[in-house]
Amino acid sequence: MICVVKWRRNMEYYHKFQLLAVVSLMFVFPNAQGWGEDGHAIICRIAQSRLSDSAAEAVKNLLPAYAQNDLGNVCSWADHVRFYLHWSAPLHFADTPDSLCNFQYNRDCMDENGEKGRCVVGAINNYTTQLLDYGKDTQYNLTQALLFLSHFMGDVHQPLHVGFTSDKGGNLINVEWYTRKQNLHHIWDVNIIETAEERFYNSDINGFTNAIQENITKTWSGQVKAWETCNSNQATCPEIYASEGIKAACQSAYKDAPEGSVLEDDYFLSRLPVVSFRLAQGGVRLAATLNRIFG
Ligand SMILES: *[C@@H]1O[C@H](CO)[C@@H](O)[C@H](O)[C@H]1NC(C)=O
Ligand SMILES: *[C@@H]1O[C@H](CO)[C@@H](O)[C@H](O)[C@H]1NC(C)=O
Ligand SMILES: *[C@@H]1O[C@H](CO)[C@@H](O)[C@H](O)[C@H]1NC(C)=O
Ligand SMILES: [Zn+2]
Repeated sequence: MICVVKWRRNMEYYHKFQLLAVVSLMFVFPNAQGWGEDGHAIICRIAQSRLSDSAAEAVKNLLPAYAQNDLGNVCSWADHVRFYLHWSAPLHFADTPDSLCNFQYNRDCMDENGEKGRCVVGAINNYTTQLLDYGKDTQYNLTQALLFLSHFMGDVHQPLHVGFTSDKGGNLINVEWYTRKQNLHHIWDVNIIETAEERFYNSDINGFTNAIQENITKTWSGQVKAWETCNSNQATCPEIYASEGIKAACQSAYKDAPEGSVLEDDYFLSRLPVVSFRLAQGGVRLAATLNRIFG
């Protein structure tokens, strides 16, 4: 009897410990680089809805079975593997010199050791090139190439993923989001999107996704062709996406958000249109890129 009670007790502790372990892992591995799950899923779902028949077929063949043919389900895969595929961590972002507000591939696209091409722009080119060998003999795992490309196309559209070097794209800028401590990078990854979903879409990611989709066909319909277009027959043009990103970071994300500021409705309501716009561009461009890759 005593034994059973004690055992139960131990199990209780065990479960508490498990919960604690999971919660602390969430703190140790914050989603510090990349839109959160929702931002990435929104971009991938918009993209998948715009694929040509041949691109849709290729994506379906490459997706792992557990994705259930929904690219949005695996759009954050790259964030989950970066903690053991350490080489992939620098591929989620690019750092530019403080306050210059422009991106230059030769100057900015490298990792901390100065190795060229190791930034989000180089990675998008890399995985696009790998996928162009779809249907041929290749040394690369094209499932991984698709999941990396889909994720990095999202990251390059998050303005603070092409941010300043000294504050690590806003990760080192501590502010308050309404009443809670937060860093500026996380606000752009997660909080603006979450707050929009809670306040305007019944906490439903599909509601927000559909509203963006509707604006792609209405409000922004005149711009979509230009978003899709790259110069001189390139399959993708991430330097353009990154250049826009750092401009949006300067004009919107960093603006009026210095260390210690309290960001509330003024900031949320004026920045949400920028977030929606970048999610739309990310989705449209991922689709355009995949359509060019898979013909
Ligand atoms: C290109 O992809 C390969 C295979 O995933 C990877 O090993 C390499 O680090 C990547 N390089 C860049 C710049 O993305
Ligand atoms: C390719 O990568 C995926 C995702 O990591 C993995 O599930 C699959 O087993 C890999 N395929 C091969 C042939 O290694
Ligand atoms: C869609 O466009 C309208 C009109 O410009 C705007 O008021 C609304 O906030 C936009 N919604 C989204 C999700 O972009
Ligand atoms: Zn990322």
